Order: sequence, then structure tokens, then C-alpha cells
Amino acid sequence: MTAPHLSRIGTPLSPSATRVMLLGAGELGKEVIIALQRFGVEVIAVDRYPNAPGMQVAHRAHVIAMTDAAALRAVIEAERPHLIVPEIEAIATAELLKIEQEGIAEVIPTARAAQLTMNREGIRRLAAEELGLPTSRYAFANSLAELQAAIDSGIGYPCVVKPVMSSSGKGQSVLRAPPDVEKAWNYALESGRVKEARVIVEAFIDFEYEITQLTVRAIGASGQVETCFCEPIGHVQVAGDYVESWQPQAMSPLALQRSRAIAAQVTGALGGRGIFGVELFVRGNTVWFSEVSPRPHDTGLVTLASQRLSEFELHARAILGLPVDTALRRPAASAVVYGGMAEQGIAFEGVADALAVPESDLRLFGKPESFVKRRMGVAVANADTTDEARARAKLVASRVRPVKA
Ligand SMILES: Nc1ncnc2c1ncn2[C@@H]1O[C@H](COP(=O)(O)OP(=O)(O)OP(=O)(O)O)[C@@H](O)[C@H]1O
Ligand SMILES: [Mg+2]
Repeated sequence: MTAPHLSRIGTPLSPSATRVMLLGAGELGKEVIIALQRFGVEVIAVDRYPNAPGMQVAHRAHVIAMTDAAALRAVIEAERPHLIVPEIEAIATAELLKIEQEGIAEVIPTARAAQLTMNREGIRRLAAEELGLPTSRYAFANSLAELQAAIDSGIGYPCVVKPVMSSSGKGQSVLRAPPDVEKAWNYALESGRVKEARVIVEAFIDFEYEITQLTVRAIGASGQVETCFCEPIGHVQVAGDYVESWQPQAMSPLALQRSRAIAAQVTGALGGRGIFGVELFVRGNTVWFSEVSPRPHDTGLVTLASQRLSEFELHARAILGLPVDTALRRPAASAVVYGGMAEQGIAFEGVADALAVPESDLRLFGKPESFVKRRMGVAVANADTTDEARARAKLVASRVRPVKA
């Protein structure tokens, strides 16, 4: 039997409404909310601070600590969403598991997927040990001594140390020699999301390029969940944070085939419906699985320009049980606009100049507070080639000037 919210869409703000709750209402959530709004879905945005980007385009908003299980349950019981859509990792996922088991709401893609991917250990053990996917060599450590022992007994140098619970490169360092170990351990402890003294140490992969393989699990013509792939997205990361992306990334047919086989396996194991960002490292025809987001991926912002349906529209369709189309329209690139300063309520100058670049577009996220390295907007541009699109997107971003209000 199909759940009622999958066979029809009601009228928002009426008893027939199809209600979707976003847990996390940043720039990615904002675009998902806009896509849902266009289908007449009633959207509730939840985040830890007021006026988050997605709250500004939702029907209602709540400010709670999403890691607080009681607060999370209270907001879900008050709003009674049909679907709960995690947009960030730092959520009380054990509570989501209970909510799902009690049949209160459906968690996208599944509560288990949210739980496994919020901790690097969960997803790495699933990928490498259960599914047998190729990954970097890795070990986990709870102390400096354990970390040193893991490096000495097989991981070697260079290697990468990351807190098991962190995102956007926080607390992450590359180690080249023994004197780097203690620094890396201390840095990981300071910057982890929770004050748990546990890290993953991974052998450094000398990849040629890295991609995000956006993968959609949606109900197809057969009436069953089917797996569809977007064209691969290439990207550049600086200190673990994405600065530029483009689509399509040129790949050998074999590397692409292997990437998609890995993506199909890991998303199949996580299950449910929705879009996934599968992060892969590539060298020649060798492909390594790195990690996966069971939600839209930041490097996928490029799809706002490149695809007929952006990753956000694909997510909205997939979660509502609607058909998807992953076709590329035209090569494109994205470039991040940073705040450049720590200030409230900043302004942006040079926008008209920026948008004079051919085939360009811009999103300003409306974040109430800027930090030097906070992502405040994104420039996108199309062109005949990804190289030209990258040059255009970077030019657009460079012309946008954050200023004190
Ligand atoms: N084992 C590795 N070898 C080489 N480079 C790596 C390795 N692990 C991570 N990196 C580099 O660091 C980047 C960030 O790593 P990772 O995706 O694990 O961190 P993250 O904090 O989850 O980042 P995000 O949340 O932004 O995806 C990768 O995209 C890659 O460029
Ligand atoms: Mg990553």
C-alpha cells in the first residue's frame, strides 16, 4: 500500500496538507523548501538559530537544538509532518529512529541512513567491511597513543586525521611525519562536533581528481524505487571545504562505471528515497569511496545551472514519490561567495556587475551573520565547456563584494 502522502498532494495550511519538516534550514535546505513549495507542500523549517535561510521561505519555523532528543520529539509531535528531511548531520538520530519505528513520520531517506552517516565510523565500516567497497586504509583511535600505534602499524604517512563526528573539514589535518601526530590529535579534539575523543586516521589517497556522484533513489515507472545517476561533478576542496565545482567531470568510461557501481551499492544499502552525494576519489581507472551524504550535496549547487532539474528539485520529487529526470542541460560551474568578515547583517555590492557575466546566476543565502569563511552565496554559470564555465563562475563570485551595512 502506498502511503497517502505519496499518492496525492494536499493544500498547504488546510487539513489535507502534505507536511514536510526540514531538520536544518541552511542554503541547501532553502532550495529544497523552494522546490517543495512549488508543489504546494506545507513546509516547516527547523534550525538552531533564528532566520536561517530556509526559515525565510517556509510556512513555519522553529529554533531548537536538533541534537536534543526531547526538543526534537516535541517539535515533531507538535507539527506532525508526514516526512522528516534531515539537511545536516548533527541531529539526535537515535530519536529519529524511534520516531520512524513508532510510525509517527517517515525519515528521508531512512533514520538508519541519517544515523550511519553522522558518524564516520558507521558509514566507513558499512562501506568497507560490509559492502567491500574500495576505500583508503583506515583505523580508529581513542587516544594519542592509539593514533600513533595505528599510523606505525600500517597506515603510514602521509595520512589524514578527522574527528569521527565533524563536517566541512573541521578538525581535519594531513600528517606528513611523526611530529605532526600530536598536533593533529589536539586539533581534532578541539574541533569535533561532540567532545568525544575518537578519530579516524586514513591513508592519504594521491587522487587525480575527486567527484560527487549524485545518485537518486526514486519511484520509477515500475512502481518500485529505482536508482538514477547525474553526470559526475568535479570539485576543488580547500581545507576540507568546497570552493568550486563543475559538471560534467570528464572521466574514463571504466572509472565512471566503477563510480556508479559503488554509488549504487552504498545508496542501496542505505535505502529509502531521495538524493545522495557519493564522494569518490579517482586515479586513472581506480576509484575509492570516501563518504556519502544522504541528502543534497554542497558541490551539487552547480546543478542549479547545469541540469533540467537541480539536485534540490530531484530530492523534492524523489521524497514525494514523483518521477525524476537527471538529464544534464548544459555544462556549468559554481564558485562560493564567502563573507570575508565577522559581522551581522552585511550587504553585497557589485551584484549587477557580477550578473553581467554571460550565462551567469547568483544565489545570496540571506544568512543573518557573516564569518570570514562562511559561505554566504554561490555564483553559477553555463558555457560550452566546464573550463569556460569555471572561469565565468569565478568571475561572478569575485565581483560580489560583501560590505559592512
Ligand atoms: N584519505 C584522504 N586522502 C586524500 N584526501 C582526502 C582524504 N580524506 C579527505 N580528503 C580531502 O579532504 C576533503 C574533505 O574530506 P571529508 O569529505 O572526509 O571531510 P568532511 O569534513 O566530511 O567534508 P564535507 O562535510 O565538506 O564533505 C575531501 O573532499 C578530500 O579533498
Ligand atoms: Mg566530504
